[in-house]
Amino acid sequence: MAATLEAIKYKDGQLEILNQLALPHETIFEKAETIQDGHAAIKTMKTRGAPAIAIVAALSLSVDLQARQARGEFKTAEDVHTFVLESLEYLKTSRPTAVNLFDAAAKLSALVTAAKHTASDAASLVAVYVQAAEKMLIDDVQDNKNIGKYGAEYIYEKATDKSNICVLTHCNTGSLATAGWGTALGIIRDLHKNKHLKRAYCTETRPYNQGSRLTAYELVYEQIPATLVCDSMASALLRLHPEVQAIVVGADRVAANGDTANKIGTYQLAITAKYHNIPFIVAAPTTSIDTAITSGSQIVIEQRPANELVTTTGLLVGSTNESKTIRTAAQGIDVWNPSFDVTPASLISAIVTEKGVAIKLDGQDQFDMPAFLASSSSA
Ligand code: MRU
Repeated sequence: MAATLEAIKYKDGQLEILNQLALPHETIFEKAETIQDGHAAIKTMKTRGAPAIAIVAALSLSVDLQARQARGEFKTAEDVHTFVLESLEYLKTSRPTAVNLFDAAAKLSALVTAAKHTASDAASLVAVYVQAAEKMLIDDVQDNKNIGKYGAEYIYEKATDKSNICVLTHCNTGSLATAGWGTALGIIRDLHKNKHLKRAYCTETRPYNQGSRLTAYELVYEQIPATLVCDSMASALLRLHPEVQAIVVGADRVAANGDTANKIGTYQLAITAKYHNIPFIVAAPTTSIDTAITSGSQIVIEQRPANELVTTTGLLVGSTNESKTIRTAAQGIDVWNPSFDVTPASLISAIVTEKGVAIKLDGQDQFDMPAFLASSSSA
């Protein structure tokens, strides 16, 4: 089988990112040489998906730092420290909802602040930063592989008809949204690899169509049997196709009680999963868990520009290279375009992380994510 798709190429201080706006029709990698390039790629959604956003931010600073160091722009370790902290603050302004970016920025700032006191010169502090940013890329793939394994085991265990397991997923949570493999899509990959998956269903994921453009592309590429539905078909799908035995989605931010922000439309999927009595599973690395907030009401939900809802871009039918943007909505209509919604913990059956599966205690409607993290790190 061909290698899994990749959205982030990083080698020898060079960063290239896949322009996901051109998918599924064209594969275009673009160089990112500065923090401004990284910020723009995230804001315009050339790079998207919570883990990928954090890693592109961290690596764009890594390449920028190395270039500045090579040009002799830093005189002291203090110069490097100041530049790193200011750059991370700037990168944090690219998109507000996914916590992975803020988590990565906090960890990298703390590391560089601690190392400043022992670093002998600017070069050695640059090296500390670069090593840590590169490790984030490597760790994310391994974390996703663990999520895939734990999640596939969980779904198989819960399935009532183990010979006929289909799952529904939303948005894109695969290789393109992460450093590789994927979270919810990683679970689907594992189910398929174990020959436990009959079919995956993916939603179109309006307004941006990450499902039809990106997840469908990954599923076709990986030759996983899959069917595309539009978002409004989910409840009918569950009613008419009882072989769909779980819904599995990713996360942009999980609060301490398990409330989860994810792509708009996730909440309605959780409601329909509850109504149809099937597990609703959130798959997320622990870098998506924000224990500083007690509930989902504290999560900032990004509002996207109206044009993303009223226009659509794609390949002209019959053409192999001519892309067009067309307007589909009536001129003059007002638009509400939140990028994410919050699914209450009460609707979530399990949160699958690289450290294991968090479940609610019997009779409780919430998760205790701090306790889960503490017990899984000491296990
Ligand atoms: O707006 P996007 O495309 O960045 O939204 C992506 C999602 O909501 C994903 O489900 C989430 O980031 C998890 S990616 C592993």
